[in-house]
Amino acid sequence: MGAQKRIGILTSGGDCAGLNAVIRAVVHRAMGTYGWEVLGICRATQGLMSRPPQVMHFEQEKVDRLLSMGGTVLGTTNKGNPFAFPMPDGNLCDRSQEIIDGYHQLGLSALIGIGGDGSLAILRKLAQQGGINFVGIPKTIDNDVGITERSIGFDTAVNIATEALDRLHFTAASHDRVMILEVMGRDAGHIAICAGIAGGADVILIPEIPYTLEKVCRKIKERQAQGKHFCVAIVSEAVCTTGGESITQSDRSGAYRFGGVGHYLADQISTYSGAETRVTVLGHTQRGGIPSPLDRLIAAAFGVAAVDLIAEEKYDCMVTWQNRQVVHVPIADAISQYQAVDPDGTLVKTARGLGICLGD
Ligand code: F6P
Repeated sequence: MGAQKRIGILTSGGDCAGLNAVIRAVVHRAMGTYGWEVLGICRATQGLMSRPPQVMHFEQEKVDRLLSMGGTVLGTTNKGNPFAFPMPDGNLCDRSQEIIDGYHQLGLSALIGIGGDGSLAILRKLAQQGGINFVGIPKTIDNDVGITERSIGFDTAVNIATEALDRLHFTAASHDRVMILEVMGRDAGHIAICAGIAGGADVILIPEIPYTLEKVCRKIKERQAQGKHFCVAIVSEAVCTTGGESITQSDRSGAYRFGGVGHYLADQISTYSGAETRVTVLGHTQRGGIPSPLDRLIAAAFGVAAVDLIAEEKYDCMVTWQNRQVVHVPIADAISQYQAVDPDGTLVKTARGLGICLGD
């Protein structure tokens, strides 16, 4: 059983489906198996910055409702790097020590952080600086965290995008239109390539393979010549042309965001191919909603494994999914190996083998 512990758990970065399922698994394992106390830290590291630290107390009997619930009951943020925290006067301030002090004030024995590569890097730096016993769990719809084959939230996002393609096929065929589905994923095209193959797209554009408009329009023309007067394309938000251009927008703070390439492409395609074109931007629907069974399964396995690592006092590591198993790796290794789609890998070969246009 081991010594009594009080552990913290937080969610950091953009939300996704399956975060609450991880929290549930951690509570069950830590409280049910080991008899520890679990404190939920509110709004990522900002909860540890607040005084008193903002926490949520869990009761094991009440967490089962979290299994299928989207979002994160703890709240999260993908802004406010504590090492360069934006202050009301516009200056950036290093507030890392406040977070470290918050962790120690709560008397925590260890902290579980559920995050993507950016959040995990920040949490690890805090842990190293402040003697925090840290275990990471990878989550992101982008599925770009190194070493792990899967991150929480990715499967649900792929399901949502695949369902959208299924729906678009019918309306595309009814109206003889080119339908463009713009999906998220930042610099990694995992959502687009997986949903594109699963959803039978005719064109899949991913950031790892620069495209030309000419190749996309050629595919549309080829289909027309075969008597197929419609075309369904899935486009990752950060795709770029062979000239290196991608479409971004900047917000009031000057920070850039992806988004808009679907409309840009629709305009170009209708100009150059004459095809009637419509765009669907899935946006944050890919992050919300009920987690898929696979995401719930991985959430459960990651949650249990992370608590077991703490029981064994193994820290500075991240749980990963490899060959149907949960194993753990040093966080430093995971965050130093960005995982993009392999342009020579199985998925790209499969897409090419099916005659799907990848824009190159
Ligand atoms: O990293 C997850 C992600 O959903 C990306 O796919 C997307 O580009 C970004 O976050 C959107 O961020 P925000 O919620 O800040 O608009």
